[in-house]
Amino acid sequence: MEKSVKRFLLGIALLCTSIFLIGCGAGSTKTSSSGGEDIGGKRKLVVGTDATYAPMEYMDAKGNIVGIDIEIVDAIAEAAGFEVEYKNYGWEPLFPALDNEEIDFAVSSITIDEERKQSFDFSDPYFVANQLILVQESSDVASFNDLKDKKVSVQINTTGHKAVKDLLGKTSKNIVAAETMPLAISEMINGNADAAVGDNAVILEYKVNNPKVKLKTVEDDSFEKEYYGLMVKKGNKEIVDLLNEGIQKIKENGKLKEITDQDME
Ligand code: ARG
Repeated sequence: MEKSVKRFLLGIALLCTSIFLIGCGAGSTKTSSSGGEDIGGKRKLVVGTDATYAPMEYMDAKGNIVGIDIEIVDAIAEAAGFEVEYKNYGWEPLFPALDNEEIDFAVSSITIDEERKQSFDFSDPYFVANQLILVQESSDVASFNDLKDKKVSVQINTTGHKAVKDLLGKTSKNIVAAETMPLAISEMINGNADAAVGDNAVILEYKVNNPKVKLKTVEDDSFEKEYYGLMVKKGNKEIVDLLNEGIQKIKENGKLKEITDQDME
């Protein structure tokens, strides 16, 4: 083949490849959630949650994700001008989902704590909570310290789990770490644990919803106050700022207090 013909064919081949590549680029849809998609003017953020946590986040009879945390995020989204889509991930998968940018942020009654702050960023706090102990009505447990030699159930990798590890020892066989809080409570009711430890609102809700099971709660002043925040991939300042803008607005206009009945600065 002549040199010029060869060059011509090569040129066409290159042109075809680049047209093909441009075509691919234009046609590809965004799969990563990061930054959100623009839908009808408002961007949509994907929000991951563990919807096993009534009254904070749970599934209603129709299978919708609802709860106090959800109402709060809806209000934040409205105030800051974005749309939300909730996805039920479960508790532990939430953390890698943020890292992998499958979700833009997580809402799940997540306590802002030092350890998590090493790997994730948080919004400003929007809710205050503390640990609470749940035992059988006949139990003689009267304080957290009374759990030292007992079997205690918790939801795995929660602040309740950490508190119980501090008391019983990190590797204690007396800790029953369940995947969800309802499962942790079942372990106690079934006699596999003497007490369950978890966030106060969720423990109280369980007790109210299950009056036939004879249970009582035990408070302890040694539990520190915990502040819930929305959790974001480390370094995603843009989303943190957007969430804080919404949180600030619903603190100022009274909407947050209307939902939670708490005074948050
Ligand atoms: N506040 C506790 C923590 O951050 C428990 C949160 C559990 N939330 C849930 N939806 N399961 O560790």
